[in-house]
Amino acid sequence: MCGIVGYIGENNCVPIIVEGLKRLEYRGYDSSGISIIKEKEILTYKKEGKIYNMEAILPKELSGKIGIGHTRWATHGGVSDKNAHPHLSQNGKISIIHNGIIENYIELKKKLIDEGYTFRSETDSEVIAYLLEKNYNGNFEETFYKTLQQLEGAYGILAICLSEPDYIMVARKGSPLIIGIGENEMFVASDANAFLGYTKQVVYLEDYEIAKIEKKQYITKNFRLESIQKKVNTIDWDQTALDKGDFSHYMLKEIFEQPESIRRAFAGRIIQNIGTVKLGGLNLTPQELFNIERVNIIACGTSYHAGLVGSYVIEELARVATRVEIASEFRYKNPIIEKGTISFAVSQSGETIDTLFAMREIQRKGAKVLGICNVVGSTIPRESNGGVYVHSGPEVAVASTKAFTSQLIAFYLFATLIGRMRDLGQFRGIELVSEIEMLPNKVQEILNNSKYIENIAEKYTKLDNFLFLGRGLSYPVALEGALKLKEISYLHAEGVPAGEIKHGPIALIDKKTPVIFIMPDDHLFEKTFSNMQEVRARGGIILSICNEKNVKKIKGIADDVIVIPETESIFSSLLTIIPLQLLSYYIAKNLGCDIDKPRNLAKSVTVE
Ligand code: G6P
Repeated sequence: MCGIVGYIGENNCVPIIVEGLKRLEYRGYDSSGISIIKEKEILTYKKEGKIYNMEAILPKELSGKIGIGHTRWATHGGVSDKNAHPHLSQNGKISIIHNGIIENYIELKKKLIDEGYTFRSETDSEVIAYLLEKNYNGNFEETFYKTLQQLEGAYGILAICLSEPDYIMVARKGSPLIIGIGENEMFVASDANAFLGYTKQVVYLEDYEIAKIEKKQYITKNFRLESIQKKVNTIDWDQTALDKGDFSHYMLKEIFEQPESIRRAFAGRIIQNIGTVKLGGLNLTPQELFNIERVNIIACGTSYHAGLVGSYVIEELARVATRVEIASEFRYKNPIIEKGTISFAVSQSGETIDTLFAMREIQRKGAKVLGICNVVGSTIPRESNGGVYVHSGPEVAVASTKAFTSQLIAFYLFATLIGRMRDLGQFRGIELVSEIEMLPNKVQEILNNSKYIENIAEKYTKLDNFLFLGRGLSYPVALEGALKLKEISYLHAEGVPAGEIKHGPIALIDKKTPVIFIMPDDHLFEKTFSNMQEVRARGGIILSICNEKNVKKIKGIADDVIVIPETESIFSSLLTIIPLQLLSYYIAKNLGCDIDKPRNLAKSVTVE
């Protein structure tokens, strides 16, 4: 979703900002722009479409020491040059970029129009620039504070002023902002990836915090204008992790990284000889862990599907009642949080606004929330009461792959830990953790077979309206498989519990309908097999993901079969999803889709 980059220092800000915006491209956007202060004017260039469209209109000699840049993901107002950010004040002396939504913009805009201002865009954001102009009293810092008081809604804002060209004003309320500290230069961005090539020293702004950023220093205050001292953190990801290497897309690279990313998710957390797990980051005493009576999981998108797998695994291994809810629903429900409940907020980015707000609502009710997140230092882990970092490394492709499998590992570890405090004995524990340790090699085995999946994908590329069916632990995989396909190939796909097809979806099946059956060798195999026969009887085109043991049986019915290695059935979801990630990828590639940046989607969803 919208990306923000700002720079002030001794170098030319233009290439730094443009490069930073490109580093944020993966978040999803539909236009981009840049403003820089150049002697007596603010120069602004903005363009609909990809960043190279905007780059193409930048004069070759353009340079400046202070500037702000933005990638916009349209909310208020269509995708157009005029709606792209930055937005200038009417007199052109102030420029702003904004992520989030100004909820009272209609009323503010109306007042400004009555006072004679003429707006150029349809956005909510433009009112910020106009208000700054109207409020300007010769001191931009003060003007900025005053203006914030008039804004309702959520925002990350950067603002620069021609008459005071030595600083950038910044405010955060609901939309992430991170300051990067360099030598005689400062960066500010909505995502540290934007400036990782220059500095790893960062300061995370929290909601209701403001910063004045100069070349050599930054001053941070809260909304009451009291100075606050912020901790400087060091980011340990390096720039190479952000490169595509020899892969044609980030998504493919990330799929192939999974043996390693899964290993990192459990590294140092398994105690082999006693068959248990340590998760120090949970910040819970053994007594508190022992007293957990219920688990509540909130998440969106792929992370929600990981949560669904988590609920099956926790109930099975730990025998603790677990519910999973989509965060955007949960947050407005006045949810019942019973005593003894521990909640998990699952989020790759750690910034998804609905998950964050759902988490805050639970905390307001006095309960603890643990994060299962990937991006270190992001808002959810910072505000949570503890949690598990999954350490997948940067995930750039919009469609999540490696973060999903690492989130599953986090749930496997948690369920084993709690299970060992209850019904699971030491030997069972050893079996479980040993199997977890084998998973990376088994994922590798599937990846070694990618050519075969690529060949199968050719036939399925010509089809549409996919059904993905699975039961038990394969149901969330059916949802995730369908989501992957629709996200990147724009083909319609639906994930359905196999037992439900008789209640509707079976009406869709004809000779052109591809049906993907996820059926590892578990106690539900025969049930799903019956559903497969029902689909066959109606002429559907069947692809089955199964274990070697059942291939013979399935081959008589299915058109195609992808074999996955054997595992404990409780961990099957982590293996069955891998061929579905590859299948989606190859179908989307055959269709010529923009795989890493699918249309209309964003990596990090910071508006509700
Ligand atoms: C967006 C992304 C998905 C992701 C979802 C939740 O929709 O495109 O890939 O699963 O947000 O994101 P989170 O960062 O909270 O896991």
